[in-house]
Amino acid sequence: MDSLPKFLNGEPGIARAAELLRAGACVAAPTETVYGLAADAFYKPAVRSIFAIKNRPFIDPLIVHVAESDQLSELTTLNLSQQAAVARLTEQFWPGPLTLVLPKRPEVLDLVTANRDSVAVRCPAHPVMHSLLVQSGLFLAAPSANPFGYISPTTAQHVRDSLGARCPYILDGGPCERGVESTIVDLRDPLNPQLLRPGPIGREELKDALGRTVNLPPLQSDPSLAPGMLERHYSPSTRLQLCQIGEMPRQSDDVEARIFLKRPAEKLRQHDYWLSETGDLNEVAANLFNLLRMLDAMSELNLIHCELPVAGPGVADAIRDRLQRASKR
Ligand code: TXA
Ligand code: MG
Repeated sequence: MDSLPKFLNGEPGIARAAELLRAGACVAAPTETVYGLAADAFYKPAVRSIFAIKNRPFIDPLIVHVAESDQLSELTTLNLSQQAAVARLTEQFWPGPLTLVLPKRPEVLDLVTANRDSVAVRCPAHPVMHSLLVQSGLFLAAPSANPFGYISPTTAQHVRDSLGARCPYILDGGPCERGVESTIVDLRDPLNPQLLRPGPIGREELKDALGRTVNLPPLQSDPSLAPGMLERHYSPSTRLQLCQIGEMPRQSDDVEARIFLKRPAEKLRQHDYWLSETGDLNEVAANLFNLLRMLDAMSELNLIHCELPVAGPGVADAIRDRLQRASKR
């Protein structure tokens, strides 16, 4: 039988994880958004194992994580206007849940970027991930630590549950504070920045920082632009059906779960859940993937109803995006 993956904890855990990464292994590690499956971004065999462990197609490029904004220049080549736009965003949002797509240096592996001439870079805010980057001294390629197409992990246990023995080392940094993956902005054309994936940092905040609107990519654009934007993604196996706030179906029985954004006033049924006492969307985001995973593991359920937040600033659009994708069959 395969042995269970090992949880690494605390300072000794970080030191051990750094050592493993330097030796060319993959280690799952916490970030403020979701857990990532990390490996040395400049070591091909390690990057190859990331794809193998996740069962991820090689056409889907990886984000490279850095400890400090200054390291961006080691991965990218920027003209003056790109530098100015990058500075506006990184000064305000790094370290944090924002990934920037920029022209890459030739040294960045084609394996990491799926043969693109751009690279996605993020400077995470989680103290454990930050220490890991500093102690390993590496650039870490890290996609979310879930099997391709499934719900991203927001705890060390989620990683163990869905990757099992395929991922032997998991650095445990507790539950992720943000709970949804980073916002991705393509800044190659600073006059026309594009939002490739909504995340914790909303379009309004980006617009305020950049002084211009961040557009959604044109509809007809190449779907391989950011494969995370595949229509069906982040999916539980139990069917998920969305409804407007306050329009939860009443005739739900014991094989159906109902997820409210805010604790409901009405009498509760057996499988009623809520993502936040008060409906606070940051809390909703932080709890969303954990609840979906928990309900997906309950074999007696054959349908999950969930309220969809209205579009808005901050993390609202990211929650809508993840729920809409998860509900696609
Ligand atoms: O919050 C996050 O971003 C987490 C944590 C671990 O940092 N990572 C994450 O990675 O969500 P992943 O691989 O699950 O999603 C990254 C997305 C993918 O959809 C990928 O296609 C896109 O980023 N991406 C990566 N490099 C790109 C590039 N050069 N151009 C366009 N999209 C890119
Ligand atoms: Mg992912």
